[in-house]
Amino acid sequence: MTGFALPRPVDRIEEGSEVAGMGSYAITGAASGMGRATAEQLRRDGHTVIGVDLRETDVVADLSTPHGRAAAAGQVLDRAGGRLDGAVCAAGLGGIRGRDRAVLQVNYYGVVDLLDAWRPALAAARNSKVVVFGSNSTTLTPMVPDGAVRALLDGNPDKALRVVKRFGRRSAHFAYASSKMAVTRWARRAAVSPRWAGVGIRLNVLAPGVMATPLLDEQLAGGQRREIEQLAVPIGGRGRPEDAGAWVRFMLSPAADFLCGAVIFLDGGSDAYFRTDDWPASTGPVGVIRYQRRARAWRKGAAGSA
Ligand code: NAI
Repeated sequence: MTGFALPRPVDRIEEGSEVAGMGSYAITGAASGMGRATAEQLRRDGHTVIGVDLRETDVVADLSTPHGRAAAAGQVLDRAGGRLDGAVCAAGLGGIRGRDRAVLQVNYYGVVDLLDAWRPALAAARNSKVVVFGSNSTTLTPMVPDGAVRALLDGNPDKALRVVKRFGRRSAHFAYASSKMAVTRWARRAAVSPRWAGVGIRLNVLAPGVMATPLLDEQLAGGQRREIEQLAVPIGGRGRPEDAGAWVRFMLSPAADFLCGAVIFLDGGSDAYFRTDDWPASTGPVGVIRYQRRARAWRKGAAGSA
């Protein structure tokens, strides 16, 4: 007896099939960097891509405001005809000074509000895939303020902003890490819930490290050069946007039918270097109680919701 039944992957793409495999995908941040690379690859495959960005794409909208997010969500749904085979949330802002509020708004609410609005269309496809762009800043930034993360998850951006402002000149850096931590936690909570997994939506996170994109160029020019260039990257170099696009494409493919709530680090080994033994971690004595509570809830068919 399971908590909720996953639908069968009815839309599995058959190899060599040109018609059955074509789908509609919404991609935010489609005008630049990794979002753009993903959009180009999906279009090359023959899929329909509905890009969302501030410029140079299908739906031009500002995801830093509730109005912009509602407009973007609605226009995508209109264009998609109420059914989406997948969504990629790549729009994001780096932690540049003076941008704290916009970083929290775009990187967290620019994902959560849109995915909430698109959920019925994703459910309509019965086997859909969502990739959220997280970051290895979640595990590499020491002391990410939990108060800001919780405030975002509770829908209180003003409180989150007050918390990160305590870091003074470094506040944007902590706004960035907090926004990525919150969106990653939101994604993992949602991914395993009846509202998402229960209706066949596979929701996962790609957490890049240092990637050669315009966002990185801006950070290098904006006073973070030393910090970025000195970061431990065991495999060396920087990630390429087209490789991130290939990972996203894979995470949208039938090969990812069994991938749910995963956080994949594409960071040349930085996370493994700094957090080598932190994960995987077994559940300790305190966690056992929560573990048992979750196991009981699952057996009763109440897996929790998001
Ligand atoms: P990018 O700057 O090349 O592309 C981001 C896109 O988001 C841009 O086209 C931009 O116009 C759009 N965007 C920003 N604010 C927006 C708004 N208010 N409304 C609508 N669109 C908006 O950046 P990149 O590097 O491709 O980043 C993609 C994702 O990956 C972001 O979420 C970023 O935080 C994340 N990431 C990037 C890393 C890197 O080293 N480049 C490292 C870790 C995560």
